[in-house]
Amino acid sequence: MKIRELQDEIIRLKKEKNVYILAHSYQSKEITEIADFVGDSFALSRKAQTSSADTVIMCGVRFMAETVKMLSPEKKVILSNGGAGCPMAEQMDKDLIVALKERNPGYTVVAYINTTAELKTVCDVCVTSSSALKIVRALDSDKIIFIPDCNLGAYIQKQIPEKEIMLVRGGCPTHARITERDVKKAKDAHPSALLLVHPECTPEVCDHADYIGSTSGIMEYAKKSDAKEFIIGTENSIAQHLAYECPDKRFYPLSKDCVCHNMRLTTLVDVYDCICGTAGEEITLDDETIKLARRPIDKMLELG
Ligand code: 13P
Ligand code: SF4
Repeated sequence: MKIRELQDEIIRLKKEKNVYILAHSYQSKEITEIADFVGDSFALSRKAQTSSADTVIMCGVRFMAETVKMLSPEKKVILSNGGAGCPMAEQMDKDLIVALKERNPGYTVVAYINTTAELKTVCDVCVTSSSALKIVRALDSDKIIFIPDCNLGAYIQKQIPEKEIMLVRGGCPTHARITERDVKKAKDAHPSALLLVHPECTPEVCDHADYIGSTSGIMEYAKKSDAKEFIIGTENSIAQHLAYECPDKRFYPLSKDCVCHNMRLTTLVDVYDCICGTAGEEITLDDETIKLARRPIDKMLELG
């Protein structure tokens, strides 16, 4: 089957079977074209609650599908490729956080949404890259333990110096690959381009940026800007999507190595097979995990 035919078949089947397809912005163009909604982690979380479909297929990584399940436990939630995890989400275990909380009474545990459902059960509030500043500012507490992304944590600390933010070792292996040398090389090659980066990049890289924001934030900024050239410091799919959406502008990946192999795992065939019921992984979470892990997510949606 040709790509277009497969896409048409997916569109037909999702209507017939009352299936809603969510896709993270890092997914391929052929997948984002058939999705009902495409966005960053925060927008996906919000959207998860509003659809009336019986089944939701998440094209992204596991923690995103778990978030959908927690927000809509009555729905069947399928991760389109069961092998797609986020390495950062699995870097820490629950016991470490429990021990840190015991040693630091009075601290609020703020978890990046890129964490497992199990880890969220012992956290106070979740944030995403687009909602982190607003939420940390809004918190009553001035003492924060931030997990698991030290780069995002350092970015928040710089913007909100009045709060004390304890960082716990961790981060995104994809964004960590981008170095200051990449910045110099890209700026030398494209001196007029603006540098837009994700806060998962190191502070040394972020220091050179004209704009720091989530995947959707970067896309919105580039679309609205009067500038014509941009160096994109996040997963390279974003530079590709922008090139299609803004044909009058030029987009250069900050590093050719900024590829998230987990996000790239899902194919259009996976999505088709999910709808046909022959692929994908149904997300199951026990009631206690949903009850406890949902609290920090609800708090995020309330404050963000
Ligand atoms: P966003 O919140 O910007 O979508 O980021 C999620 C992610 O995994 C980035 O690597
Ligand atoms: Fe996880 Fe990094 Fe991939 Fe995002 S880019 S899903 S944080 S590994």
